[in-house]
Amino acid sequence: MPIPRLSARIDSFCYPDGTVALSDIRLDILQGEFCGILGSNGSGKTTLLRLLDGIIKEFSGSVLLDGADIRRLSPREIYGKVGLVFQNPDDQLFAHSVYEDVAFGPRNMGFAEQEVTRRVGEALESVDMADLDKKDIHNLSYGQKKRVCIAGLLAMGHEILLLDEPTAGLDPMGEYRMMELLTRLNQESGVTIVMATHSVDLVPVFLSRLHILSRGRLVRSGTPEEVFNARDDLSSVKLRLPYIAELIHSLKSKDSLPFKRLPLTVGEARREILELFKQHSSL
Ligand SMILES: Nc1ncnc2c1ncn2[C@@H]1O[C@H](COP(=O)(O)OP(=O)(O)OP(=O)(O)O)[C@@H](O)[C@H]1O
Ligand SMILES: [Mg+2]
Repeated sequence: MPIPRLSARIDSFCYPDGTVALSDIRLDILQGEFCGILGSNGSGKTTLLRLLDGIIKEFSGSVLLDGADIRRLSPREIYGKVGLVFQNPDDQLFAHSVYEDVAFGPRNMGFAEQEVTRRVGEALESVDMADLDKKDIHNLSYGQKKRVCIAGLLAMGHEILLLDEPTAGLDPMGEYRMMELLTRLNQESGVTIVMATHSVDLVPVFLSRLHILSRGRLVRSGTPEEVFNARDDLSSVKLRLPYIAELIHSLKSKDSLPFKRLPLTVGEARREILELFKQHSSL
């Protein structure tokens, strides 16, 4: 069994005003995983990511990064490996221009200016923002700001990326392209990715493992298939099935169409429907 890159054993975490935001969390993130943390508003996703990134240190339990207690590591040791993209881009961006913002991380890591330029160029290229490098951050659209945030982390070359709702607020094509970009990073560059999200329609297409968070507790972990097949569990934590699965589920339960399994993506649904036609040519 490989050592997890991140291993969280959080007995409880409470904000200063008394809100118990996390309890009884047992979560291991393995090298090369691309997994999602799904949960409704206020379920604790952002809080969990902040513990995994070592920003929040006052909790009972432990978070290990490559086997070492994250609370004992220096910021430099943590940020050399793990990067967190905030939910709200305005909390992350601070420089005047796109280029300067993305350059901040690699400069801070001590790279020579030529290497900084190369890293910034590549990072902006991969989020389709290369032609806006001189633009004032304040004048960017919300989706563009989110992409600059991700470029800022890419330029630092983290091995583990924690992303807080990277697709929220993007247009449908932008959502899809963001997920494709993350998939590419995961598959081609081996970056381990953990993303908090509500996008139940997108996750089955891209993610291999999901963790469902509800009221600060992890209530279910598994492949998208395992998680979405427990339909009642999902509604009790205020999440829904992907639309395509909902459609097939109602064709099965209300119209008695004999689907054998619950497809989660359009591609799977197409295959299931064609299969059904083949087997029941009378339909
Ligand atoms: N700084 C804070 N002080 C006190 N309570 C907080 C603080 N930040 C978050 N909380 C509370 O902790 C709980 C978890 O919040 P968190 O932001 O982690 O949820 P979330 O799953 O990220 O929600 P969303 O989907 O809305 O982003 C909520 O009940 C929230 O009110
Ligand atoms: Mg959040």
